[in-house]
Amino acid sequence: MSSKKPVVIYGVTGYTGRLVAEYLREYRVPFIAAGRDGKRVKEVMDKVPGIENAEYEIAEVEHSTEALTKLFKGAKVVCNMVGPFMKYGPEAVEASLAAGCHYTDTNGEQNWMMHAEETWGNKFADRGLLLSPGIAQMYTTGEIAANICLETPGLDTLDILVLWKGFPTYASTQTIFSILTADFFHLEQNQYVQWSPFAKAEVQVPGQHAVAMALPWGGTAHPVWFKNDPRVANCKAMGGVFERSVMEGVVQITTVVEEQIKKMPKAQQEKALSDMAASLQAGMPPRENPRINTSVDSVHASGPLGRVHCVIHGNCNYKQTGLLQAYAAYHLLQAPPRRLGFASGCQAFGHRELLGVLQSFGLAGKPVITSDI
Ligand SMILES: NC(=O)c1ccc[n+]([C@@H]2O[C@H](COP(=O)([O-])OP(=O)(O)OC[C@H]3O[C@@H](n4cnc5c(N)ncnc54)[C@H](OP(=O)(O)O)[C@@H]3O)[C@@H](O)[C@H]2O)c1
Repeated sequence: MSSKKPVVIYGVTGYTGRLVAEYLREYRVPFIAAGRDGKRVKEVMDKVPGIENAEYEIAEVEHSTEALTKLFKGAKVVCNMVGPFMKYGPEAVEASLAAGCHYTDTNGEQNWMMHAEETWGNKFADRGLLLSPGIAQMYTTGEIAANICLETPGLDTLDILVLWKGFPTYASTQTIFSILTADFFHLEQNQYVQWSPFAKAEVQVPGQHAVAMALPWGGTAHPVWFKNDPRVANCKAMGGVFERSVMEGVVQITTVVEEQIKKMPKAQQEKALSDMAASLQAGMPPRENPRINTSVDSVHASGPLGRVHCVIHGNCNYKQTGLLQAYAAYHLLQAPPRRLGFASGCQAFGHRELLGVLQSFGLAGKPVITSDI
């Protein structure tokens, strides 16, 4: 029997990585806590609540396919938290494939989803492995709500809203900015249709009287996950954070991106956006508080003759993400996923199962479902 710990958390020093460690401890899954700076990994791990009862080891690893492959060899699942993923993801995916590990990450970047599916989807399937980028609150919780609607046959159009209350972390802010230069899409009659970079909407938020501002947020994962789902022909998702000033900031930056940054050479674009993001978020947000950090995932599903609406009120976006990652690893150590190769969280593990996981840890309420069918 190999003594290798079966799960690797890569990027464990981040806000989300340490939450994955916390939940892996709760599932009693041994893991390797990995990051680019071993001293920092130890400092961070020492502060994870309850960690004295976890079975884990620390690994310092260089961010290269070769070094990551060596680290991952003998493990079974990689939970990658080093984003933006379009920038840092390829090495970890290549290394997971080379080491024969299932791969998951926390991204919400549509361009990374598409790239991952196209580049590595079949290769993972051929090796009997799961490639599941995007097991995270944004957008797995909304995907659960969409699938609850789709339990009713005859609905082919998804109108999705994903909002959460809180301030994005350093890497999340970097990610939000990095996707502003990408093209992003929704689905219309099973085809990708490009969003205008200036698209925005005032949306009705279930459970409150005030409207909120929502953006396509880089297109979201939903159109990619539903592209080859025979039940769904149209899928549009919008979202963001509740805090209007943050959303207005993103709109202003979109104008700068379109008018100035997109005219720069590619390498300069990346640096300009990264510097702008760093000026907005340099530190660690406080640990989430369920009385403050709420989330709403709302899906209107419709067809020619009927409608179903499903709302999931939840809390603690980052904790939902940490828990979903830990559960995915826990599941994969015991049973194969429902789908190999590229698959979403719901396609791999089942939407009712993932909802149950979130509910059992107090991070999501009972879905509110209304229907005229
Ligand atoms: N979709 C969602 O709902 C959702 C939720 C949570 C997170 N996320 C995504 O997950 C990612 C991580 O988020 P976070 O909140 O944990 O961010 P974070 O607190 O900023 O942590 C980022 C992690 O990446 C590591 N890292 C950064 N650059 C690196 C490099 N060049 N080489 C190796 N490691 C590097 C950091 O290591 P150091 O400590 O050594 O700097 C840290 O461990 C982001 O892309 C974010 O958008 C998405």
